[in-house]
Amino acid sequence: MSTSVESIRSALSSVNDPATGHGIVASGQLGAVEVADDGSVTLRVDLISPGFPLRDELEASIREALQSLSLPGLDLQWGLRVPKKAARQDLNRLPTVKNVIAIAAGKGGVGKSTVSVNVALALRSLGAKVGILDADIYGPSVPKMLGKADREAGTATAGEGIAPALYRGVAVMSVDYFVEPGAAVIWRGPMIHKLLTQFLEDVRWGDLDYLIVDLPPGTGDAQLSLAQLIPLTGSVIVTTPQEVALIDVRKAVNMFGKLEVPVLGIAENMSHYRCPACGHHDEIFGAGGGKRLSEEIGAELLVQIPIEPAIAFGGEAGTPVVESNPDSPHAKAFFKLAAAAALGASKRSATGPKRSSLLRTID
Ligand SMILES: Nc1ncnc2c1ncn2[C@@H]1O[C@H](COP(=O)(O)OP(=O)(O)OP(=O)(O)O)[C@@H](O)[C@H]1O
Ligand SMILES: [Mg+2]
Repeated sequence: MSTSVESIRSALSSVNDPATGHGIVASGQLGAVEVADDGSVTLRVDLISPGFPLRDELEASIREALQSLSLPGLDLQWGLRVPKKAARQDLNRLPTVKNVIAIAAGKGGVGKSTVSVNVALALRSLGAKVGILDADIYGPSVPKMLGKADREAGTATAGEGIAPALYRGVAVMSVDYFVEPGAAVIWRGPMIHKLLTQFLEDVRWGDLDYLIVDLPPGTGDAQLSLAQLIPLTGSVIVTTPQEVALIDVRKAVNMFGKLEVPVLGIAENMSHYRCPACGHHDEIFGAGGGKRLSEEIGAELLVQIPIEPAIAFGGEAGTPVVESNPDSPHAKAFFKLAAAAALGASKRSATGPKRSSLLRTID
C-alpha cells in the first residue's frame, strides 16, 4: 500500500529550516506533495534564498524524517520564495521589494561597485529577482560596469513613473542616465535626498527579491537619506585587508549601528594575489584585516576575494566576471558572497527584526 500525502506531511512536520529554525510545514515552505501509483514521492520545498548554502543539510533532515516510511523513490524539487522584510509603518516605500541590501565601506576604491554588480548578477543567475540602485550620485559606476543595457531607463507613459534600465534581467537606476557624460554633479545634501527619494518612489522597480544599493564612499548624506527613506534589511561591509581601510570602515559600521541597520557580514576584497605564471601567493595589501574587523564587530567574514586582473578588466569592459567566466575561482568568490548575503537578509526577514530600541521607547 502506498503512503498517503497526509502521512508524508506529518512525518515532515518535525523538519526545521536550518537557517530560520522554523518548521518547513508550518512555514509553508513545503509545497506540493505527490505520490505516484508505484508509491514514489515528489516533494517541492521552497528555499528562503538563492544558492541556499544549507541545502544539503535540509535535504538530509528531510530524507531522515521520511526514512521510516520506506518510500520506493523520492524526488526533491527545490523552489525559491524569499521572505519579505516586515515594513515599518513609517517606511512604506518600495512595497514590491522584499529586501534592500546596502553595499558599503567608509573608504573609496575598495570595490563596492564591483561587488554590487557581481553580487546582483550572481543572485540573478541563481534565480532571484534583482535590482541595483546606484546611490553614488557623484561617481556613478554601475552602468559602465554592466555594459550594454537591454533596455534604457526612461520615463514611462505620463504619471507612471520612471522605468529602470534593464541589463540581462537586472533592473538598474543611476544618476548616470540623467547627466551629460563627463559633467560634474554638484549637489547639496537636500538635493541628494530629493533625488534618492525619487529613485525610491517614482521608479517602477517591480517585484524584486533583493535591491542591491551601491553606496558612495564615506558616511554622508546618501547613506543617511537611504536609512531614513527605506527599511534596509542589512549592509555588507567591503574592506581591503589594510589597516588604513579598516579605520574608515569602522566609521561606516558605527553609522549603521546608530541607524539600526544590521551588518550582514564583511567582504574582504583584494585579499591576496596568486601569480598565474608561478603560482606564488602574495598578500599585497597585508593580511587579516577582514578577520580582525569581523572579530571586532561580531559580524561574519563572508568571503575573501582575490586581486585578479580579470575582475578589473570585466568592470572596464562591461562584462563582469560572474557572467564572462562564472566557473573561475574569482567569480565563485562573488557567488559565495551573493549566497551568504542573501541568506543573511532572508534569515532576518523570515525571523523578524530585533526589536528596535527606538520602537521600544514608543510602545
Ligand atoms: N578584486 C579585485 N581585483 C582587481 N581589481 C579590482 C578588484 N576589486 C575592484 N577592483 C578594481 O578596483 C577599482 C575600484 O573598484 P570599485 O570602483 O568597485 O570601488 P568602489 O569602492 O566602488 O570605489 P568608489 O569609492 O570610487 O565608488 C576598479 O578599477 C575595479 O575594477
Ligand atoms: Mg563605487
